[in-house]
Amino acid sequence: MPDETIRSILNAVPLPALFLGEGDRIIGQNTRAAALFGAVEDRPFITVIRQPAVLDAVAACRAHGPGKNGEAAKTVRYTGKDGSLDVIYKVHVAFVTAGPATGVMISLTDVTHEEQIGQMRREFIANVSHELRTPLTALMGFIETLQGPARDDPVARDRFLGIMSHEAQRMNRLVSDLLSLSHVEEMGRVRPDTRLDLTDLLGSVLRNLGPLAEKEGGRLVADLGGQAVFVEGDADQLRQVFGNLVENAVKYGGRPAQVEVVLRVIERDPSLRGPALSVTVSDNGQGIDPVHIPRLTERFYRIDGHRSREMGGTGLGLAIVKHIVNRHRGRLRIESALGQGSRFTVLLPRVS
Ligand SMILES: Nc1ncnc2c1ncn2[C@@H]1O[C@H](COP(=O)(O)OP(=O)(O)OP(=O)(O)O)[C@@H](O)[C@H]1O
Ligand SMILES: [Mg+2]
Repeated sequence: MPDETIRSILNAVPLPALFLGEGDRIIGQNTRAAALFGAVEDRPFITVIRQPAVLDAVAACRAHGPGKNGEAAKTVRYTGKDGSLDVIYKVHVAFVTAGPATGVMISLTDVTHEEQIGQMRREFIANVSHELRTPLTALMGFIETLQGPARDDPVARDRFLGIMSHEAQRMNRLVSDLLSLSHVEEMGRVRPDTRLDLTDLLGSVLRNLGPLAEKEGGRLVADLGGQAVFVEGDADQLRQVFGNLVENAVKYGGRPAQVEVVLRVIERDPSLRGPALSVTVSDNGQGIDPVHIPRLTERFYRIDGHRSREMGGTGLGLAIVKHIVNRHRGRLRIESALGQGSRFTVLLPRVS
């Protein structure tokens, strides 16, 4: 029979918790455990969690009995389901002496989030290593060639040094993008508070990138409205945002690239719940298949990795853009259809 005392103690635990009496029968559960497992009182524990690691921990806990402090605790991992999602729990198993009654108390902590962070960190390190290894391998190969077969060949030497410089620049860009990403992440919680004229800032970005577009015979067209409009922002970071969007539009746009940058004043934007400014960068490229759109802002995600690398891209640009826009409490929207170019819109809260 479930004991009221046990149940009331379990209900004071802020985690799903069960109490196992003799023969590992569940003699108490709190409401959080009921939400997770359903009503399981009076049932054998093995019918609730079948994972051997957890069952072994319970057996070991019983064999050990009360420890030095009257309890022995074990922590094992248990994978459960929440709808279609896997949830990872750390299961804490402890021997409990409650007056004449003894038993095992089980409590579960959801560690899914920490596990995901760990997984992301591992993937990130693997990606960085891979991205650095490619140019590094090329550099090492050329150094070897220059020390050996091409030692006395001035023509080959010049050519190889050119390639080596290109690869070294790529590594340099990667490292500065990584530093910039970590810097933006670090500042993520601090809201920028310098009042800036966005028209002016966009003008300077476009002046700097004009030559890049013209190099390929392309064109940058701007409609900035002409009047000063203000946001609270970090000028360097906002330049980075629009710089990357315009650069992408030129790089991945059509040939010749036709890039349009439009700044609009929005009286009230529902998603920002207030006055806003929108900056749209559109191009005449091949467009982006909708399957890629949600993933574009992931670090190192590229649609055509080969093409991006060839153009010196690190695949970190849009990840940095997203972080900066979030820091400014703004929104990034990507719209595109294959064959119809792409539109990247940044919405920022407007101040007077
Ligand atoms: N305007 C666009 N049209 C089509 N594809 C785009 C456009 N902008 C970005 N992409 C795709 O999204 C990917 C990620 O862009 P992102 O800016 O993050 O990286 P990158 O441009 O490859 O490198 P970096 O910006 O670090 O130099 C690109 O590799 C490209 O495949
Ligand atoms: Mg880019």
